[in-house]
Amino acid sequence: MADRMLDVVTICGSLRKGSYNRMVMNALPGLAPAGMRIAEAPPFAQFPLYNADTQDSAGIPAAVQKLADAIRGADGVIFNSPEYNFSIPGGLKNAIDWVSRVQNQPFAGKPIALQSASPGSLGGGRVQYDLRRAMVFLDALTLNKPEIFIGNCSQRIDAQTGTITDQQTVGFIRQQLAAFAKFIEQHGRPR
Ligand SMILES: Cc1cc2nc3c(=O)[nH]c(=O)nc-3n(C[C@H](O)[C@H](O)[C@H](O)COP(=O)(O)O)c2cc1C
Repeated sequence: MADRMLDVVTICGSLRKGSYNRMVMNALPGLAPAGMRIAEAPPFAQFPLYNADTQDSAGIPAAVQKLADAIRGADGVIFNSPEYNFSIPGGLKNAIDWVSRVQNQPFAGKPIALQSASPGSLGGGRVQYDLRRAMVFLDALTLNKPEIFIGNCSQRIDAQTGTITDQQTVGFIRQQLAAFAKFIEQHGRPR
């Protein structure tokens, strides 16, 4: 257990109300190990499309700065994202692109964990490799294992109640969060 509370923020890659990935994200605070606190980061839904001309003329939007500050102030970040067309959903990629333009971009040196859910059998795993690639460029430190790919998620999550009903999935998530706490302690920088 950490000798201080670890603060982790979550970012959901899906904007839809009934999102399975958001249901998984919402379950995380209750599955965190002792000594880890998990809360959702400020939203990116209203970010404009990234355009360097907008940044040059108007600077970094306040909502972008807010998300960047939350990432900078956290001990770690968890992405809960679907896979869109084998890759990162456009809204999430746009958010990462904006945050990456903030001075002293906050992903540098930041511990990252990845989780994806899909009604398909591969659990949206391919989005994770593209997120890893973007995080490499941004000098983030992404946890390798355990990986969380929730395949056939409509059978493992009750869409009515938003709860993860499959206990094996719950167990895998607990294991990843415990590994992430150790990873932060070993590799994270003091905030
Ligand atoms: C534009 C779009 C592209 C998609 N591409 C994929 C894909 O490449 N792989 C996959 O497993 N599911 C894909 N799906 C299905 C999503 O996994 C499914 O809609 C999932 O429920 C979205 O996540 P959410 O429930 O968190 O919103 C796609 C869905 C959309 C809308």
